[in-house]
Amino acid sequence: MSNFVKINNKINRFNKRLSIDGDKSLSIRWALLSSQSLRKSKASNLLLSEDVVSTLNCLKKLGVKIKISKNICEIIGLGLNGFKYKNNLILNAGNSATLGRLILGLLIHTKNRIQLKGDKSLSKRDFLRVIKPLRKFGAKFNSNHGKLPIRIQGTNYSKPIKYVENKGSAQCKSAVMFAALNTLGETIIKAKKSRDHSELLFKHLKLPIKIKKGNKYDVIKVKGKYDVPALNYKIPSDISSAAFFIVLTVLTKNSRLKIKNVNINPSRMGIFYILKLMGIKISKLNIKNYKGEKIADLIIEGTNKIKPINCPIKFNSSAIDEFLLIFLVAAKAKGVSYFKNLSELNQKESPRLMWGSKILNKIGIKNIVTRDSIKIFGNPKLEINQKIIIKDFLKDHRIFMTSVIAALSFGGNWQIYDKNCIKTSFPSFLKKVDYLGAKIE
Ligand code: S3P
Repeated sequence: MSNFVKINNKINRFNKRLSIDGDKSLSIRWALLSSQSLRKSKASNLLLSEDVVSTLNCLKKLGVKIKISKNICEIIGLGLNGFKYKNNLILNAGNSATLGRLILGLLIHTKNRIQLKGDKSLSKRDFLRVIKPLRKFGAKFNSNHGKLPIRIQGTNYSKPIKYVENKGSAQCKSAVMFAALNTLGETIIKAKKSRDHSELLFKHLKLPIKIKKGNKYDVIKVKGKYDVPALNYKIPSDISSAAFFIVLTVLTKNSRLKIKNVNINPSRMGIFYILKLMGIKISKLNIKNYKGEKIADLIIEGTNKIKPINCPIKFNSSAIDEFLLIFLVAAKAKGVSYFKNLSELNQKESPRLMWGSKILNKIGIKNIVTRDSIKIFGNPKLEINQKIIIKDFLKDHRIFMTSVIAALSFGGNWQIYDKNCIKTSFPSFLKKVDYLGAKIE
């Protein structure tokens, strides 16, 4: 079977309701935290994408019991520092940096050596950012200049640390929080704002965590070695997956879409704040609180009046996974948009800032890219007629899906490779596109 899709037509206007798969950040955190409890935890609507399946496989190799039947996943954990495995165990994090970085936080006490590896894309990514703070707890690491494969040898005498997280990385913050959970005493983290799912889960579980919120940084104090209760959870829909259909609707005139039960945690809502500044309104209905997270139904409508933006950097972290899509919206704006301080985008599954610029070049949108910024010269009349091929992007799921949205929004004859990469985060993506009426070969 071919591993590419061909798209030769824009999508026709649509008016539909859509459901979106479970949140990936929460699915991975649920599984890792449940492994730290001695009780049985249950999750419904767990995202069963490759990144989450890799998480479950790593935990199974560490001796954790996991059962999946129908829509329910059950984990019976082994408690803090309770993993059971043989020496020189190899864990494979696949494509997932969230798994790779967070699980290291849970391994700082391992008696035997463990090797962590990943796929080609993950092996290019920076792990020094988590190795450095985790070394301070007392664990020992061997790595290939901070890249995978990594060997970790835990310590019996971990000590709490003080750590300043400066990148706005929730993965670094969470890895340290997980290590702190397994360490007697109080760890103090000063972290640049980033998604706060780990903090909310710790609070919901009544683990000893104190958070002082600041403007740019939060101070988080975690006391370790407290029993982790069972974590029963219904995973809400992923805003980062919903974002593909939000942008497709915005860019398809006279269309309307309702998406139910989406996680609208403010630390993930950058795309909403940015689209609002671009003159695009998304309505939220039935707003509810769920175990600390905020959930709502969303209503989106198509428009052809898009304002350019000088994007405030305060939204960078909360929109970090959505910038490729936001660049497509800027391509259709009436004027020049500017996005800055985005060097972290080049640290993702592929160098996404560079790829954002590449896709814009291919669709004929002038842009000026630097190592951490991009200026986009929008064209409200943008229509594509030529052939466009998208390949060799390190199988980055978000590049594939963004290209599909560009093809369906702007037209042209597209051939987009590596369609299987959607399995890492949003396996049902192409089915949803089909349901909205798109013609894809
Ligand atoms: C994630 C944090 C972000 C994000 C990633 C998921 C998480 O990465 O890009 O897709 O679940 O903590 P960084 O922490 O590296 O910014």
